[in-house]
Amino acid sequence: MTRLPDDPPPFYRAHLFMCTNKRPPGNPWGSCGEEGAQELADHLRQTFKELGIEDARVAASGCLGRCDKKPALVIYPEGVWYTVKTKEDVEEVLKSHLAKGERVKRLMVPA
Ligand code: FES
Repeated sequence: MTRLPDDPPPFYRAHLFMCTNKRPPGNPWGSCGEEGAQELADHLRQTFKELGIEDARVAASGCLGRCDKKPALVIYPEGVWYTVKTKEDVEEVLKSHLAKGERVKRLMVPA
C-alpha cells in the first residue's frame, strides 16, 4: 500500500487485530476464541498500558481468515501475522515488534 501525498497523517503508528471469534464446539474450522484468544487480547491491552504504548491500538476482531494459524494476530501497517498461544508470546511480540521494530520469527506466520 502506498500513502498518497494528500493523505492525512496516520492517527496510530500501528494497529493490532486479534481474532477472538468463537465458533460452537465441534465446528471443523475451530476458532481462535476456543484457543483462549479473548484472554490473550485482554493481555495485549494490559501489556500496552504497562509498556506505555500510546501511539498504537489493539482491537479484538471477528475471523481474520487465518483459522489454521490460530490464535491469529496481525499488525498493520506492516501486515505481519503472528500465531500467539501464550501471554509470554503476546509480550514478546509487543516488546520486539512494536517497541524495537524487530520481528519474532518463531511466531510469524508465513504468507
Ligand atoms: S477464527 Fe480466528 S482467524 Fe478464523
